[in-house]
Amino acid sequence: MSSSQRTDLGRALCIITGASRGFGRTVARELSRLVKPGSVLILTARSEENLRSLEVELAGSEAGKSGLLVQCVPADLAQMAGLQSVVSASRAAFSEHIDHVILVNNAASLGDVSRFTSSFTDMAEVDSYLSLNVTSCLCLTARLLQALPPPIRALSLRRQHHLAVRPAAF
Ligand SMILES: NC(=O)c1ccc[n+]([C@@H]2O[C@H](COP(=O)([O-])OP(=O)(O)OC[C@H]3O[C@@H](n4cnc5c(N)ncnc54)[C@H](OP(=O)(O)O)[C@@H]3O)[C@@H](O)[C@H]2O)c1
Repeated sequence: MSSSQRTDLGRALCIITGASRGFGRTVARELSRLVKPGSVLILTARSEENLRSLEVELAGSEAGKSGLLVQCVPADLAQMAGLQSVVSASRAAFSEHIDHVILVNNAASLGDVSRFTSSFTDMAEVDSYLSLNVTSCLCLTARLLQALPPPIRALSLRRQHHLAVRPAAF
């Protein structure tokens, strides 16, 4: 698909969780090509080195040279402090020139996929996965809705689809 055939997402503030690898890294690259100059991409995950390498890559891309801003926020989204650092960076990056906010809730853990179901006997361990995959996603969305002017387009790549796109419900 040529760049002229792609949808134009306008001047956007995009917050992409789990941007250090996998789907999140790919989504960040794709979004960088779909937004207008002056847009901001906030990349967050725990691995700072991986985030920085993507930041360098995007800064050197056509979009980066045209005025896309990229900011890394290394954070553990299973922790309140991690959520708050993403919210603070998003609030600081927002300006009256931003047309809309796009939140890509992608960070998640499947746990140790080599294990059999019969080994998941520890409730605290199972809860830690659910906390990252469900609770942190919901709380980050809620905190961003409080911190930034509406509307926020929230997209969840997780398998818990009931938490997917529903800005109006908030
Ligand atoms: N792969 C599939 O076949 C598939 C299919 C359907 C849906 N999905 C969904 O797509 C999403 C991404 O899948 P993927 O295969 O790309 O997964 P992945 O390669 O394991 O990437 C997960 C991302 O989440 C981040 N992350 C994990 N724990 C974190 C934490 N505590 N705090 C902050 N960031 C954290 C990881 O970065 P750090 O380790 O650097 O923190 C990484 O960037 C998931 O929501 C998954 O459920 C995947």
